[in-house]
Amino acid sequence: MVSHALLPPFPSQAPIKRQPCLFALILHVAFVSSALLLSACTAPPQFLSTILGPVPTPKPVEHKPRREPYQPPKPAPMVEVKEEAPRTDWAAMLEQLPKDAGGGTDWVRAMDEKLIDPKPGLDPKAEDEPVFDMDLELVPKDAPDFKATYPHKIHTRMLACTNCHMEIFQMEKGADPITMEKIFAGEYCGRCHGKVAFDVATGCPRCHLGMPK
Ligand code: HEC
Ligand code: HEC
Ligand code: HEC
Repeated sequence: MVSHALLPPFPSQAPIKRQPCLFALILHVAFVSSALLLSACTAPPQFLSTILGPVPTPKPVEHKPRREPYQPPKPAPMVEVKEEAPRTDWAAMLEQLPKDAGGGTDWVRAMDEKLIDPKPGLDPKAEDEPVFDMDLELVPKDAPDFKATYPHKIHTRMLACTNCHMEIFQMEKGADPITMEKIFAGEYCGRCHGKVAFDVATGCPRCHLGMPK
């Protein structure tokens, strides 16, 4: 029989025997402490209540949203606009026609732009008369610089010969004693100018072509 004392001790036997003991201790401590830690973090440490008294149950934490929850924009309020028929009264129609320098209606331009097409007369049977192209130079005897140019052409585009001849004007150049005073008083050219045709006070250069505008 071989004595143990004689043989050198088996080199790895002694440490093997001690190691698991130390290892188990470390494992144990680690396990207990981690279990304690876990229980401390997750649940109220009930076992402490015996020493420290009852632990109040924590209120559930309410998380407020960081920003308002998204809400789609409200649709713009619908405004009901009633469709109105375009105005057809005289004042509205007149407003649409071109204006002259004096602010009055420029009938010549209105005709040229085909905005109006005057009828030959009130009588439905009235027939259109041909345009009479004749300019008359009406020269005042004592003020030749203020000669007035009367254009038949423009007038006969809208008027009949009988609108002027012979009630207002003779059919003879220079036959009527026309003066500015009478025109301003509403006679001769003033029968229409300053009423339905362009204003006399602002329209000097339209009749007196030589006058500076
Ligand atoms: C609608 C056309 C018309 C307008 C606008 C007009 N005149 Fe006359 N004017 C005449 C006629 C027509 C005569 C007379 C011509 C003749 O003797 O046959 C005249 C004559 C005159 C005379 C000569 C003197 C007299 O009284 O008869 C003067 C000056 C005169 N006009 C100045 C003016 C001045 C200034 C204005 C602007 C404030 C003006 N006229 C606007 C047509 C017009
Ligand atoms: C807006 C008025 C007006 C209308 C419309 C009118 N005339 Fe005149 N007419 C006159 C004036 C103003 C005179 C000159 C009168 C004066 O000087 O006393 C005249 C003169 C005349 C003259 C004489 C010319 C001259 O040399 O002596 C004749 C011709 C004439 N007109 C023909 C016509 C005919 C044709 C028509 C129709 C197509 C017509 N007139 C429409 C205003 C008008
Ligand atoms: C029966 C009405 C009437 C009479 C009378 C009348 N006119 Fe006119 N005249 C008109 C109308 C309407 C227009 C065109 C309206 C406008 O342009 O404001 C016009 C336009 C004119 C124009 C503008 C021409 C242009 O190219 O813009 C002249 C100039 C004119 N008349 C001169 C005279 C003179 C001068 C007399 C007098 C001798 C006269 N009218 C008498 C109605 C008349």
